[in-house]
Amino acid sequence: MSDKVEEGPVPAAAKPSFGTRAKAHFKKWWWLHLGIFIAVVLVVVLPVIYVGYPNIAQSDVNKSTLTINSMEITNPAPESFDIKVDQTIGSKSKYHPILDAFNATVALAGTDKPFFTLEVPSIKAVDGANAVIDQRVVLKDLQPFIDYSIKVMKSETLDIEIKGETGLKEGALPKTTVDYNKVVTMKGLNALKGFDVTEFSLVSNQDDDTNMVGNVFIPNPSVLTLTLGDVTLDLSIDGTPIGTSKLNGLVVKPGDNNVEMRSNIEIAKVFPFVSGKDAKYKDFVVPITIVGKSAIHEGKELPYFTAALASNELKIDLNLGPLLGGN
Ligand SMILES: *[C@@H]1O[C@H](CO)[C@@H](O)[C@H](O)[C@H]1NC(C)=O
Ligand SMILES: *[C@@H]1O[C@H](CO)[C@@H](O)[C@H](O)[C@H]1NC(C)=O
Repeated sequence: MSDKVEEGPVPAAAKPSFGTRAKAHFKKWWWLHLGIFIAVVLVVVLPVIYVGYPNIAQSDVNKSTLTINSMEITNPAPESFDIKVDQTIGSKSKYHPILDAFNATVALAGTDKPFFTLEVPSIKAVDGANAVIDQRVVLKDLQPFIDYSIKVMKSETLDIEIKGETGLKEGALPKTTVDYNKVVTMKGLNALKGFDVTEFSLVSNQDDDTNMVGNVFIPNPSVLTLTLGDVTLDLSIDGTPIGTSKLNGLVVKPGDNNVEMRSNIEIAKVFPFVSGKDAKYKDFVVPITIVGKSAIHEGKELPYFTAALASNELKIDLNLGPLLGGN
């Protein structure tokens, strides 16, 4: 009897509750579940960290903007100069990662021929973040910078491409590498439209060969400050050379520039154009063609600025009447 009474609970004990069974199962197979859990986490999280996050980072870098506020070239030498670039990053992203310092190549867009490399400092990518580059640039190859200088001289606007690869770090996430590739549209010197000789008069007994002094007006619609040095310009009338003008220690700043000009004019070559019965410009208003001849700083010619000046022909009508005793 007692045996049977005792037998009663046995089947119940052999069929434990779901909770008890689960506990037993996990106790035995915990390592398998942990493994599966970790695998799932990794399969979900790793692509987010190593694919999604770098993609978001790259996409944000792609969408960011770059504005060049000023670019200043000083202490120019034939193959090097100091450059200071002030730039601002624009970003609408809710992430504000830190970008590592990196070397960025700068080229005319579409040429793939960098004219120099800039050391971009580390920067926190918040909207309006400002970065200042201040360094000496050594030109490895002159031609791309000559091409760029000519383009700056002759264009109303030009596109430059800034390229590099840098580390990006967002919070606790691992560092990822992003391509920095921006095309920035900048204003050029627009062929110096508006250039003018604002006043001039004959002088004598100068130390140099100067026999005419005056002022020139040079408008600069760009954000560039350019140290051109001692600039010599060739002057001619209808293809006949009549002398040269010098703009010594010329630094062209953004906005209006009024610069002293010292000229050596061969008056004898000018006279046939304005006096005599065959004179072409009897009213003494002569068309003067002005072309850059050289830019020299500390006794050394700056080939890139010489080329830019030589590429641009300026034409102004000058009334020589008051000077040469006409009307
Ligand atoms: C970023 O821009 C480059 C082109 O400059 C493009 O090839 C790339 O697919 C873009 N990446 C993302 C994540 O938007
Ligand atoms: C940039 O290039 C210069 C010269 O090659 C090198 O010394 C410097 O470490 C580079 N900077 C970075 C941030 O890579």
